[in-house]
Amino acid sequence: MASVASLSASLQQRVSAALAAAVPSAVDADPLLRRSDRADFQANGVLGLAKRQKTNPQALAAEVVAALPAGGGADDTIAAVEVSGPGFLNITVSDAAITRNLAARAADDRLGVPLSEHPGTTVVDYAQPNVAKEMHVGHLRSSVIGDAIVRILEFGGEQVVRRHHIGDWGTQFGMLVQYLIEHPHQLDHSEDEGEAGEASMSRLDRLYKASGALFKSDEEFKERARRRVVDLQAGDPRTVALWQRFVDESKIYFDSVYSKLDIQIRDEDIVGESGYNDMLVETCDLLEKSGVAVWSNGALCVFFDDIKGKDGEPVPLIVRKTDGGFGYAATDLSAIRNRTGDLHADTLLYVVDVRQSLHFRMVFETARRAGWLTEQVTARHLPFGTLLGKDGKPFKTRSGESVKLEDLLDEAVQRATAVVREKGEKIGLTDEEITANGTQVGIGAVKYADLSTSLGRDYVFDLDRMVSLNGDTSVYIQYAYARTRSIFRKAGQEQRAAAHPELALEPAERALGLHLDAFGDTLAEVAEVYEPHRLASYLFQLASLFTTFYEQCPVLTAGGGQDQVENRLFLCDLTARTLRQGLTLLGIRTPERL
Ligand code: ARG
Repeated sequence: MASVASLSASLQQRVSAALAAAVPSAVDADPLLRRSDRADFQANGVLGLAKRQKTNPQALAAEVVAALPAGGGADDTIAAVEVSGPGFLNITVSDAAITRNLAARAADDRLGVPLSEHPGTTVVDYAQPNVAKEMHVGHLRSSVIGDAIVRILEFGGEQVVRRHHIGDWGTQFGMLVQYLIEHPHQLDHSEDEGEAGEASMSRLDRLYKASGALFKSDEEFKERARRRVVDLQAGDPRTVALWQRFVDESKIYFDSVYSKLDIQIRDEDIVGESGYNDMLVETCDLLEKSGVAVWSNGALCVFFDDIKGKDGEPVPLIVRKTDGGFGYAATDLSAIRNRTGDLHADTLLYVVDVRQSLHFRMVFETARRAGWLTEQVTARHLPFGTLLGKDGKPFKTRSGESVKLEDLLDEAVQRATAVVREKGEKIGLTDEEITANGTQVGIGAVKYADLSTSLGRDYVFDLDRMVSLNGDTSVYIQYAYARTRSIFRKAGQEQRAAAHPELALEPAERALGLHLDAFGDTLAEVAEVYEPHRLASYLFQLASLFTTFYEQCPVLTAGGGQDQVENRLFLCDLTARTLRQGLTLLGIRTPERL
């Protein structure tokens, strides 16, 4: 494992040193280097420095250029530097430096991407469906985004603890368990119910509806259901055993949806709301004793100066309700105590709908006051927006119900399979291959549409667009990958090709090469800000640059002889590996033939 500094990082260093050589007091001046259309890179740092020094920027730029190793010599990274405009430096790197850097990446299994220097422990709270309830599109976003963030952080060397904070506790379970006691065979399995996941869900749904109806219409049942909640929270064995049946039944259903989604959920990472039940009393006691929470109208509340309702009255966080019950907030506060105190996390992430923003703001602030979140711990809600229908309104079925996640996935796979079939038949794919690829393309399309949108934004769920071969889609990227594989098959060569740094590069090769070199920097940035859409856009750009390269630079029939064929094969191979690694981090598969 050898990490590789990007050309951008090497230049950054060289320009910094040159700035410091020109102005000795400027050791920490930022060269403000970025990729540019005019040359390969542009550094704008001279301007600010000249201003600070009260000197002429163009003259200072000339001094910096003189201090830069350029145009040959032992350090041949920089091919040329030009001063432009008021004092910008336009820097062109040498073709040899590009190819050498890429060769170093290709020699490393991690493509030269470094591990984080100071890895910490991050708890990611994501994929948190609710027991006995259907999963809907909101759970899609949390799962897809959370899974990508977990993968990206782990790839960077972070210690990640996954937490699926499922909704498995609360008053509705009193009602459900009581109903099951009174109608004991309602969760029994019968022979002819079809797929396990769907069957589980329909049993649960039936029970949920029937018990809900009774709860509304029958006061006495309501009372029995209430008492049942108390039994549950007190740990009465029979009640707990029945409750467990709901959880187990739901897990069968969750499993079936997650396996469709191609997301792995491990049982030990499912720590639902019930997992914190034993801490609730203590959490409230601690809040009360420290004065962080106070009793108000019979409820234990935390108040905030800056959080008020429309009527101007303060909106409190309620940790214990008037009936003595504990709510969502008490559980989340207890979870924080567990995650910082027992799991020793230094970062807590919550991939949850934007509509819960106020909840998390209040919970974090409360935990800070209580000392459970110290300055050493970062807690962040990563809020995501709503999935919209084509009419621009929250995505619903025609009859106005929320869309079942499974239906949506099935449709995506169906549509993608049709797209894959059209091309696949031409290249002689078997029916089995078409089905397998259709699944990978369809699920990839759903994930990519989600991940390529910046987190907080709403987006329209438009399957036509999502499985389109043109445009910013995963299918487009998957095709680019498959194309690289087909080139290798044609070359009759599976093993890697050698790089030839002595060869001059075409513009399309340089553009592709410089982008490949930026993979590690992109990942570092994505992991820093938790924004998977930056990785999505990097990969889309990579696929586009590869397409241009493929159109402009013949690979197997390159005119420059065998070395050039090899060097181009080498570029194809590194592109393939980068695309595959990148898509894998987004949870998206790469079919070999499309
Ligand atoms: N189960 C909740 C829902 O479906 C999301 C849980 C989010 N996580 C948390 N720690 N509160 O809305």
